[in-house]
Amino acid sequence: MTNPTAAELIGRSNRLGSDPRVTNYAGGNTSAKGTDTDPATGEEVELLWVKGSGGDLGTLTEPGLAVLRLDRLRALSGVYPGVEREDEMVAAFDYTLFGKGGAAPSIDTAMHGLVDAAHVDHLHPDSGIAFATAADGEELTKKAFGDRVVWVPWRRPGWQLGEDIAAIKRENPDAIGCILGGHGITAWGDTSDDAEANSLWIIETAERYIAEHGRSEPFGPALDGYAPLTPEERRARAAAIAPTLRGLVSTDRPQVGHFTDADVVLDFLSSAEHARLAALGTSCPDHFLRTKVTPMLLDLPATATLEEQLERLHSLHEEYRADYQAYYDRYATAESPSIRGADPLVVLIPGVGMFSYGANKQTARVAGEFYINAINVMRGAEAISTYAPIPESEKFRIEYWALEEAKLQRMPKPKPLATRVALVTGAASGIGKAIATRLAAEGACVVIADLDLDKAQAAAAELGGTDVAIGVQANVTDEVQVQAAVDAAVLAFGGLDLVVNNAGLSLSKSLLETTVADWDLQHNVMAKGSFLVSRAAAKALIDQKLGGDIVYISSKNSIFAGPNNIAYSATKADQAHQVRLLAAELGEHGIKVNGINPDGVVRGSGIFAGGWGAKRAAVYGVPEEELGAYYAKRTLLGREVLPENVANAVFVLCTSDLSHTTGLHIPVDAGVAAAFLR
Ligand SMILES: NC(=O)c1ccc[n+]([C@@H]2O[C@H](COP(=O)([O-])OP(=O)(O)OC[C@H]3O[C@@H](n4cnc5c(N)ncnc54)[C@H](O)[C@@H]3O)[C@@H](O)[C@H]2O)c1
Ligand SMILES: [Zn+2]
Repeated sequence: MTNPTAAELIGRSNRLGSDPRVTNYAGGNTSAKGTDTDPATGEEVELLWVKGSGGDLGTLTEPGLAVLRLDRLRALSGVYPGVEREDEMVAAFDYTLFGKGGAAPSIDTAMHGLVDAAHVDHLHPDSGIAFATAADGEELTKKAFGDRVVWVPWRRPGWQLGEDIAAIKRENPDAIGCILGGHGITAWGDTSDDAEANSLWIIETAERYIAEHGRSEPFGPALDGYAPLTPEERRARAAAIAPTLRGLVSTDRPQVGHFTDADVVLDFLSSAEHARLAALGTSCPDHFLRTKVTPMLLDLPATATLEEQLERLHSLHEEYRADYQAYYDRYATAESPSIRGADPLVVLIPGVGMFSYGANKQTARVAGEFYINAINVMRGAEAISTYAPIPESEKFRIEYWALEEAKLQRMPKPKPLATRVALVTGAASGIGKAIATRLAAEGACVVIADLDLDKAQAAAAELGGTDVAIGVQANVTDEVQVQAAVDAAVLAFGGLDLVVNNAGLSLSKSLLETTVADWDLQHNVMAKGSFLVSRAAAKALIDQKLGGDIVYISSKNSIFAGPNNIAYSATKADQAHQVRLLAAELGEHGIKVNGINPDGVVRGSGIFAGGWGAKRAAVYGVPEEELGAYYAKRTLLGREVLPENVANAVFVLCTSDLSHTTGLHIPVDAGVAAAFLR
């Protein structure tokens, strides 16, 4: 059963963490001190519940809390070897755990344990960090908060910072919290409600002070030529830039992207001071692993042409990598972890917006959210003073901190298709849906394109949130809609790696029954549709220079000849030859093109449910509901083919195990001798 103190802490944490003004994603931590019965002795013991390492306050639950024995934690002060060796204290936390201790204690645990208050909040609010990064933050803190909030000079989080803040609380009985230079805020209270109210009071007082005393144009006047493009122009330009940029920032390792054209970003990039401020980089310690010390800024006006922008991005990227390597070399010591790649994680394009990157969509999105926090911080700091983040050497000490490295080493191994962005046509139903499901389960980001937007979005929602999959409307017979689907993919996930031409339909008719409309419809959706999708996708894949996969869901009927199938089988044969033609043409770009020949996939198939099944059953003289079993009996393996079997083949084709295979068709038909490839 949850201890009431812990339950109260979860409630407060969730309220604080769900307000982006209060803290950034997974930033900050909260704690409560209380008592519980020690099962070993039956005695009441004093405990500290504190948010564990890496968790998010907004979504915190009990397993996310670390639980420590307060007496033993405080006893560590007696063995603390001094600031030079403060990192060793993290291992010492293990000897203070209550029971199994819950989540891993974070570096901030010392601050929570040592400060003599029952409830402590440590937060990263934009308004508080604006004070923390103001050149004269100490004086401003006095002016804005009087004796109630005390300035603590910058120090990397750890045991010593905990000792410092505990001393401040002892020496300033009227204080309710402090501003941590270069970093954030800490507030405390005797009750959970007091701590929460004190946190909010500091945040709101800082906001009010900035609003009342701040300059009106902290980022300076508008810059000529840097005004935002119209929303349509921005999206079109971002989609055109995305593949090339994603290729560049994936120089060291492939990354997923996130794009935003939020007003805060466009406003910052259109103002005179943006280049100076962007070069100063971010400040709060949470940021460095997520955004790197500085973003890459395109130093061209929004009025520049696409070609000018792409050319400049290439040279800026080279400069960025050289600068980052130099930064690493300047500060790395023999003990430092090795460089984690020199590509930028945030790229700013005036007039257009911001791209951010990471090892998966959530990480990429959060990097973008962090940079928006950084813009807000810079605006506040510049409004009341001059933005002065912590020195670069300290940024390095955070970014390449052995404790941060240890966290990274503990991360689970990425899934086989992690960082890959897939577009599957006709994926709201049947085989396409099974393919999308499998690709997502293997770590890919998936775009589900289908005729009906609601159905596409519903299918995407079944796979998880928009960090996993999105649904878009696209009729593959329409050139404009196909391009829009590819654009949506590169805007949602930064680029494109894996395309599955699956959309299709089937009308079982004899030659004499087949109308011109029947012929055109099937050829338009399958032969022409996959040509249009492959063409639009190949442009992005070629720009990206990261290779890629195009897979066609063709059919056994592309080679097998039977009655009542003229239009369908002919267009399937067309698709099958597109595989070979494109394999031959796109090989030089590292793009593999392969096909799959399924047969008799009855379960889940809209094609079978929509009349084709009834007609096929009539052709074979079996009841429709027994069609799957009938097909199974015809096969060499005697097995029914399911949508998942086709999805498995797509997965295998796209893994690195088949990196040297292109122009191939894989039959997924449980063995049909008449359709053997030769
Ligand atoms: N089911 C089988 O036995 C079988 C066998 C061999 C090949 N195939 C092929 O597999 C693919 C998927 O078939 P399924 O059985 O899952 O069928 P399905 O009807 O369940 O799914 C096809 C999807 O394609 C979509 N679609 C149709 N026209 C479209 C268009 N113009 N633009 C965008 N989307 C469109 C449909 O809305 C549907 O969601 C088809 O290409 C089909 O020819 C199926
Ligand atoms: Zn912090």
